[in-house]
Amino acid sequence: MKRAVYPGSFDPLTYGHLDVIRRAAGIFDELTVAVLHNPAKSPLFSVEERVKIIEDVTKDIPNVTVDWFTGLLVDYAASHDISVSVRGLRAVTDFEYELQVAQTNRLLSQGKLDTFFLTTSLEYAYLSSSVVKEIAEFHGNLDRCVPPSVEQKLYEKFGHT
Ligand code: PNS
Repeated sequence: MKRAVYPGSFDPLTYGHLDVIRRAAGIFDELTVAVLHNPAKSPLFSVEERVKIIEDVTKDIPNVTVDWFTGLLVDYAASHDISVSVRGLRAVTDFEYELQVAQTNRLLSQGKLDTFFLTTSLEYAYLSSSVVKEIAEFHGNLDRCVPPSVEQKLYEKFGHT
């Protein structure tokens, strides 16, 4: 049984994240999407909202569960018997940061947490949660960025009902 975790802020989930979730779920026996709760940051969506959004859009994928964590990813992974962290790479600009995080996690876990990179599908390579929030703020079209339920929640956050 190979378990993996896909950690992230997911503020909010985009089609790029969903693409990584679906593909990773096809590779690993069990995939946990773990939403980071960082008390030092002020996300647009609360951790409960982010978890609920991901649960809703992944309910058709039987081997995906959604959870949240705070603190170090290596501690979450160790306590859930998980040895692989999944991350998406959109472009070469992501690589330097992701390499640093992956190496740090291997060091902190004494080699027990490896990172598995999936290259984001090209149609989502331009997407990020930050860009999506900016489009939503100005009531732009999000059809190709996020699932309809997320689009609705974003517009509500910015007062576009
Ligand atoms: O979606 P993001 O914001 O790019 O995700 C970053 C995330 C959550 C994967 C990363 O910040 C993380 O794992 N944070 C938890 C703290 C941690 O374990 N830090 C050590 C590695 S730098």
